Amino acid sequence: MDVKHLSCEYRQNPIGLGTTHPRLSWQLVPDQRNQSQSAYQIQVALQIEDLERESALVWDTGKVLSDTSVNCKYQGPALRSMQRYFWRVRVWDRGDQPGAWSEPSFWEMGLLSVLDWQAKWIDPEGEIDPIAFKPCPYLRKSFRTQELKILKASAYITAHGVYELTLNGKVVGDCVLPPGITSYHRRLQYQVYDVTGLLRQGENAVGVILGDGWFRGSTDALSFRNVYGERLALLCQIWIEYADHTQEWMISDETWKTATGPLLKSDLKDGETYDARLEMTGWNQPRFDDRTWKPVRVVDFTYDNLVASDGLPIVRQENFVPTILHTPDGGTVLDLGQNIAGRIRMTVQGPPGTTVKLTHGEVLDPQGNFTMKNFEASALVRALTKLGPLLQEDRYILKGGERETFEPRFCYHGFRYVKVEGYPGEPIPENFTGIAIYSDMPKTGEFSCSNPLVSRLQKNIEWSMKGNFVDIPTDCPQRERSGWTGDAQVFSRTGSFIMNTVLFYEKWLKDLAADQRASGLVPNVIPDPSLHVDAGVIGATNGSAGWADAALIIPWTVYQASGDETILENQYASMKAWVDYVSSLALKVHWTKKLTPAHWGKAPDHWKYVWDTGYHWGEWLEPDVNPFLEMIVNFLFSRPQVATAYYAYSASLLSNTAQVLGKGKDAQYYHELSAKVKSAWFQEFASADGRIKPDRQASYVRALAFDLLPQEFRPKAAARLVELIQAANEHIATGFLSTPFICHILSQNGYPEVAYKLLLQQGIPSWLYAVTKGATTTWEFWNAIGEDGRINMSSHNHYSPGSVGSWLYEGVAGIKIDPKCPGYKHFYICPQPGGDLAQAQVSYQSMYGEIRSAWESHPDSMRLEIQVPPNTSATVQLPGVLPEQVTEGGVPLERIEGLQGIRLIGKDLEFDLGSGTYLFKYPYSIGRTSNPRSYN
Ligand code: BGC
Repeated sequence: MDVKHLSCEYRQNPIGLGTTHPRLSWQLVPDQRNQSQSAYQIQVALQIEDLERESALVWDTGKVLSDTSVNCKYQGPALRSMQRYFWRVRVWDRGDQPGAWSEPSFWEMGLLSVLDWQAKWIDPEGEIDPIAFKPCPYLRKSFRTQELKILKASAYITAHGVYELTLNGKVVGDCVLPPGITSYHRRLQYQVYDVTGLLRQGENAVGVILGDGWFRGSTDALSFRNVYGERLALLCQIWIEYADHTQEWMISDETWKTATGPLLKSDLKDGETYDARLEMTGWNQPRFDDRTWKPVRVVDFTYDNLVASDGLPIVRQENFVPTILHTPDGGTVLDLGQNIAGRIRMTVQGPPGTTVKLTHGEVLDPQGNFTMKNFEASALVRALTKLGPLLQEDRYILKGGERETFEPRFCYHGFRYVKVEGYPGEPIPENFTGIAIYSDMPKTGEFSCSNPLVSRLQKNIEWSMKGNFVDIPTDCPQRERSGWTGDAQVFSRTGSFIMNTVLFYEKWLKDLAADQRASGLVPNVIPDPSLHVDAGVIGATNGSAGWADAALIIPWTVYQASGDETILENQYASMKAWVDYVSSLALKVHWTKKLTPAHWGKAPDHWKYVWDTGYHWGEWLEPDVNPFLEMIVNFLFSRPQVATAYYAYSASLLSNTAQVLGKGKDAQYYHELSAKVKSAWFQEFASADGRIKPDRQASYVRALAFDLLPQEFRPKAAARLVELIQAANEHIATGFLSTPFICHILSQNGYPEVAYKLLLQQGIPSWLYAVTKGATTTWEFWNAIGEDGRINMSSHNHYSPGSVGSWLYEGVAGIKIDPKCPGYKHFYICPQPGGDLAQAQVSYQSMYGEIRSAWESHPDSMRLEIQVPPNTSATVQLPGVLPEQVTEGGVPLERIEGLQGIRLIGKDLEFDLGSGTYLFKYPYSIGRTSNPRSYN
């Protein structure tokens, strides 16, 4: 058995690692069914050729009897800064036959100590007006390398602001908006680039442009500016190793020079203004005449917050050629046909000084004209917050002559439509390209089915994910672009199926821990733009239940999807701090209770587990609730039912986490705590007839999803949920928090047909309503466009309602994680056909290889195709089927290689599969299972 797809820290041949125990993974190449690994051997060396010389190895595990093939941590001698390590692996199959050694792979370390920084922080700007938008500083330096062959050269760079690095006129790397956004005061990422091929013997030049980025550009809902500081700065060093093994550094210092040029304004949200007439040809080449350029200032910014880039870079992804619309109001509008986060690259030719303006929006108004009305806050909100309009405007001023190409560098927009003004001549589609940008996560999940509207919904879910995974999980890519914790957690299960999110969330959760207060409070938005101010209307909403619980829910979700304990180890202290903080808050009593007779005597014992103080967003955006009234109610009365439910849920996730990490005492303590909170919740909010206060869909979904009810109440709660759905004419009425669970809960509690009714509903509110209105992403409000075509003030690219995706993959198509064996080492296949679907298929690229479940219903039978990757196993569950009714490739069940443990559990047939591809045929039965699988 051979191995392929070697990866280190979830990447191929990564450079600049900060971890001292990199995680090594590989996949097995099987040629037969039922294959698994019985042992492995890893070897690591400093030179590729040393892998063949035993005495030169840095680390040799020898033969390790283990089936681990994913995230095997390096445990050899301490790794050295900047060193490249080559590695290879071989495995033994289940019959103990060794395979061949893999092709060598490598990883390279970043700077492991602050002392590795030779460069100085430099500040290019003179006197500045902090309020005004400022032109982007250009920085340059010429330097000579020795007249020797360059063996290797690496650039280490970061900035206050965002940067573009060039060497001898060539842009280095393909990251967009480096160094990305983190909680800068505590964690500022540097990037490492291999620049060996860009340097030459003799004269060289390094050039860097700085932009405002998240550091001092507009961020967040209220477009705060100068959040992390008022001045930009650069830190850059290039390490060069020559053929004779001598080495030298080129560093940022007082010898660099600076000027401003064509980039007159660069704001992340507002957009960019570029005056091509001010270009400085050759500015980043050697021998450029920089006598008029000014010296930079060395400044003493800290190095203590510098961290390696352990996340994934934002890169340019899909391209779109637009159609050109001539709108009734005489406008020229590009239509990408897809709502994205990204920007436009434009080619243009015309007289010097001509200004082309590109304004980016998401919708057309009912008359078909370009509009930004859906971003316009009400007059009251604008007055209270001094919120200006969202601009999303790029301006390009032509230098004239040849054809010119423009793409903004330091901003992105959330848009499908672009209003073009001032374009010289007739704009044609070929002169514009829409470019989507997002974090470079590997795509893992695919889903499609026979209903084209549902398949389009899946595409919309994917596109809202792409638009909101731009370095941090944002709520929307236009209006706020903030790392809203609640939005992030509700989508994390769906998102972790569509893409491999491990590195993405690991990075963001480190920022969550960095921004968590000493008390344990987690702010609503990470990175936290309020910089630790928990006062005022915005600060006071920090620590909201269901939002701050992202601190627990996301690590647990990512662990389930990856089987990788690292995220639990990293976050444990933060998870615990949040639950302990909530415990301290639960001891307080809400003011309304203080007025009740119960409070005058001895307060009921369970009150100390009821969390009924503080601001909570609550269920948020239930379709029949006005959000502004909801906020007022939240402030006045808190949301004890929601908050206490999350308290119980997070305590149980913490107990599970402690269990995984071998912290037995904590596991026990938080398990008991969760049980006490559940019982308090039940006493406070449920009644003997099974009713929950408030008697709304969300309450029942949450109670069932978080296991808040004694067993005998579960059927009553599920039945009441169904009644409420029927009373709403088979429409969903949940908000942010319960939408991810509603279909799971229905199908796990015996009502898959009702889940299908909700999925296939096309009236407001429903998922497919937006699809029928031509949406290409999922909307924040169910009625973002009203039935009369009215555009409501709301975002058209919010991934939160797309959290139904996980039910499509786990419920409809049936690939389910086994919570006891996470990361798909063992998983379940239990498809639930229903509704008008004749066929559905899902595939998931696990770390072991592809998992597939595809069903097709025929008049008299079902076909189910399953793929199980090597070194994993699956349990298949077929409801209402008998063993003798099933064949695989025409062969009866008991004679199939790789299949074991045929059993009937209730009315469900179950059996276990080893690796391989299988095609089952059995009689059609509607998917009502008696033994639901869930990891909640
Ligand atoms: C955002 C959300 C967020 C919410 C808090 C909104 O403005 O867009 O998605 O979770 O505020 O309720």
